[in-house]
Amino acid sequence: MKIIPSAAEMTAFSKAEQRAGRRIGFVPTMGALHEGHLSLVRAARAQCDSVVVSIFVNPTQFGPNEDLEKYPRNFEQDKTILQREHVSAIFYPSVEEMYPAGATTWVTVEDLSERLDGRSRPGHFRGVTTVVSKLFNIMQPQFAFFGQKDAAQVAIIRKMVRDLNFDVQIVVCPIVREGDGLAMSSRDAYLSTEERKQALVLSRLLERVRRLHEQGENSAEKLFAAGKQVIAEETAVKLDYFEIVNPDTLEPVRDVANGALVAVAAYVGTTRLIDNFLLRS
Ligand code: PAJ
Repeated sequence: MKIIPSAAEMTAFSKAEQRAGRRIGFVPTMGALHEGHLSLVRAARAQCDSVVVSIFVNPTQFGPNEDLEKYPRNFEQDKTILQREHVSAIFYPSVEEMYPAGATTWVTVEDLSERLDGRSRPGHFRGVTTVVSKLFNIMQPQFAFFGQKDAAQVAIIRKMVRDLNFDVQIVVCPIVREGDGLAMSSRDAYLSTEERKQALVLSRLLERVRRLHEQGENSAEKLFAAGKQVIAEETAVKLDYFEIVNPDTLEPVRDVANGALVAVAAYVGTTRLIDNFLLRS
């Protein structure tokens, strides 16, 4: 497994793989890897000949008062894990390598980037789409793997790929959860024992909405009211957003008969967690 810190070397590696007839599956991450990330790596390995993972804590997607400084960084551990998963290369650039002094170009998906997480984290998705565009250009992968865990990110990346004609197929993998339902996240490491229990209210809310929908309820208003009741049970958890939207446009829907994305974000202590569920039509 190669560790590649330079963009030029990364592109050379990708081109050599492709000349040798190997299709590249790319998994972009910010490291502190857990089973959620590994599910993407495994999907990439099943579908592609060569798997490349990037580990880069991207500063442009963090707001000024967010957790950029304390975001968990475990490169040595990540390296060992990825070696076991038979990854071909890790792209591990520095901030200076990704953002050389003087760079002034941004990629923004308008409208969608102001919805859900974008509303409470201004500039977040601009940072995501800019870094993912750069990574796609550096890597030129045939396939790129993303988690449904970040549902808004998925909608925005898909739109970006369509709008800018990126020659890459986006593959979306299901959310990996802990045994008790908590959606795995690198930020789970911030939670105290007490907060870890309180955090379960997010998956409980989604479960309540899912069950109600399964029993035939299609009114977003009714599903929303039921979800609100669940969140109210955990007064220590501060809701950021809870929305029932179209999974592609991220616009609120009134009726979920044709499917919908139920998405929630909340602060447990100072930790912001997100979770979601796709209601099928
Ligand atoms: P990061 O939060 O490290 O996540 C990397 C990928 O892993 C994302 O596609 C995310 O959706 C997926 N993922 C995280 N937790 C998951 C879970 N529990 N189940 C399934 N997939 C999960 O998302 C980012 O990094 C960044 O925004 C990035 C795309 C790398 C751009 O900087």
